[in-house]
Amino acid sequence: MTRRAVVIGATGQIGRVAVGALARDGWEVTALSTGGGRDDGWPEEVRIARADRGDDDALAAALGDGCDVLVDMVAYGPEHARQLLGLADRIGSAVVISTLSVYEDDKGRNFDTQAEPDGFPEYPVPIPESRRTIRPGDTSYSSRKAGLERELLDGGDRLPTTLLRAGAIHGPHCRTPRELYFVKRNLDGRPRRILPYGGASRFHPASVHNIAELIRLAAARPGSRALNAVDPDAPTVAEIAAAIDTVMGVETRSVLVDGPAPSPAVGDTPWSVPVPVVCDMSAAERELGYRPVARYAETLPETVAWIEGRLAGGRDWREAYPKMFATYRDLFDYAAEDAWLAGRQA
Ligand SMILES: NC(=O)c1ccc[n+]([C@@H]2O[C@H](COP(=O)([O-])OP(=O)(O)OC[C@H]3O[C@@H](n4cnc5c(N)ncnc54)[C@H](OP(=O)(O)O)[C@@H]3O)[C@@H](O)[C@H]2O)c1
Repeated sequence: MTRRAVVIGATGQIGRVAVGALARDGWEVTALSTGGGRDDGWPEEVRIARADRGDDDALAAALGDGCDVLVDMVAYGPEHARQLLGLADRIGSAVVISTLSVYEDDKGRNFDTQAEPDGFPEYPVPIPESRRTIRPGDTSYSSRKAGLERELLDGGDRLPTTLLRAGAIHGPHCRTPRELYFVKRNLDGRPRRILPYGGASRFHPASVHNIAELIRLAAARPGSRALNAVDPDAPTVAEIAAAIDTVMGVETRSVLVDGPAPSPAVGDTPWSVPVPVVCDMSAAERELGYRPVARYAETLPETVAWIEGRLAGGRDWREAYPKMFATYRDLFDYAAEDAWLAGRQA
């Protein structure tokens, strides 16, 4: 019997891999995105749908008579949960991408409080899914994701949904690649990089390949649950930088700083957190029979190659990665970096 999957956000970094994995696993897949694109690696049978998921009629039309599983990469708030629950009579189960930033520590600190004095959350290492989550709200990315989760889990009797709490996602086609921080420095011949917190920060990465594997397994084993979605390893930022150097064949010296980045423009890498953010994957192993398919360093060559391709010909990173520029503005202030390094030597 043919099983049908509809994937919303199919041409994004996760979607490209997940659509291929589902199709090769025997699913009849409809790949939905705003632009209606297709990945070269997808089997021919994958169907394409072009729709804005914010348009209820367009989404319902793409669903047609319905599907066995709906995979949603771009659900951001409770309104998307309600939209999916409203279509529950036509969807067997769902797999929805959430984020580890829904977690809160014992003092009520979370990613939304990190800019406050002593506001960075101190989580257990590793974080289990039973860790408390922030109050749903409309004020931030994380509180909206918490609202999305709450409504979908509450509606589990109507639409069993697996929520995947992803870490720092990496892979080709990423629109906000953290790896750009070191790849561009290497392309620009920067001999030194400044790493706060002694280079020991750990912010758990999540390969698109591991997330796609979790999606494939969850699609076959519907349930109402939230599961972490991260790599088997959580390298330090110094290890990440060194691994990128190895892939690019360069040698760079790390200048380690005790404590936080000297300024937002100096050493504030996208992974530089004061205390570890590392998640536990044993629930997915137990519930889905999950086994990781990729380790961080193994997947780096394709990620680095993708970034190098986007920057080829000296292309301005702000044009190549507009979403990255909007999120992290001060990533490459070399003048500020050099001034700080010169001051340190003086
Ligand atoms: N980046 C991270 O480190 C991180 C961490 C934790 C969780 N997450 C979660 O990861 C998810 C994003 O996944 P991703 O990185 O694979 O996405 P992505 O690479 O940014 O791609 C987004 C995909 O969604 C499609 N899309 C965007 N808006 C749409 C709409 N209104 N209707 C239909 N399709 C739409 C895009 O279509 P076009 O290609 O045609 O534009 C594209 O296929 C989000 O839920 C985010 O919260 C990300």
